[in-house]
Amino acid sequence: MLALRKRHHPALASVRPLLGRFRLSTAATAEKKPESEPAPRLKAFSIYRYDPDKPDSKPRMQTYQVDLNRCGPMVLDALIKIKNEIDPTLTFRRSCREGICGSCSMNIGGLNTLACIKRIDTNVSKTTKIYPLPHMFVVKDLVPDMNNFYEQYRSIKPYLRKKEEAEAGKDQYYQSIKDREKLDGLYECILCACCSTSCPSYWWNSNKFLGPAVLMQAYRWMIDSRDDFKKERLAEMTDEFTALRCHTIMNCTMACPKHLNPGKAIAEIKKMLVTN
Ligand code: SF4
Ligand code: SF4
Ligand code: FES
Repeated sequence: MLALRKRHHPALASVRPLLGRFRLSTAATAEKKPESEPAPRLKAFSIYRYDPDKPDSKPRMQTYQVDLNRCGPMVLDALIKIKNEIDPTLTFRRSCREGICGSCSMNIGGLNTLACIKRIDTNVSKTTKIYPLPHMFVVKDLVPDMNNFYEQYRSIKPYLRKKEEAEAGKDQYYQSIKDREKLDGLYECILCACCSTSCPSYWWNSNKFLGPAVLMQAYRWMIDSRDDFKKERLAEMTDEFTALRCHTIMNCTMACPKHLNPGKAIAEIKKMLVTN
């Protein structure tokens, strides 16, 4: 029958004196006074609130105090902390938390950006103001209605189109390395709409002007060497609104949190409209 008694490994004999010393040192530590907590660094966040279930009450700003010692470094960390610990009714979109999904776009301190990659301004004497993306209908609090934006994206047919029936069903289309490189700086767009909602032309004409985000994607497909519909894609842009409402103010490029250049893409479309 197996002996179930606990056996000590012979190697333990050599570490026992060390263990004793370790116990002594921890006991000494325990006698020390616990370090006092650092004073809270309270930062005020003033946040736009709108509740569609109370149609009679106007939108308002609500201020929350967050202790920066107990909060992650990004604005999204503060929003999540407020929602989890102070006010569960605060509503905003987020998903990836690393600048990839584009869902946490909002206006922070006067600039359109992604809350998850925007650092909190640690100056606690200043209040950080947070609004939904400007000139959009608001669903609730920081959540804008993106339906028009997505509908415009759908309208440019953002996918590869082939003229040859036989080609259309193929699984792979080859492209030279050079042609592939032409798509760099365009395909990385995460459709966050920070650019479009910082464009004055889009503010006033978002029903007819496609705006920088969607136009940059239209351009991305126009110059894709594998696509057969460049002419038709361009033909959709010849009226005075769809693309030509851009006045090259470049707010869009300055706003892009992914450091893309939609203003340049629109300028290229304009050139193609003249030369094709
Ligand atoms: S460059 Fe064109 S699209 Fe960009 S902000 Fe200016 S007007 Fe809008
Ligand atoms: S171009 Fe930049 S700002 Fe505009 S939708 Fe794409 S990622 Fe967002
Ligand atoms: S949470 Fe995905 S981009 Fe911010």
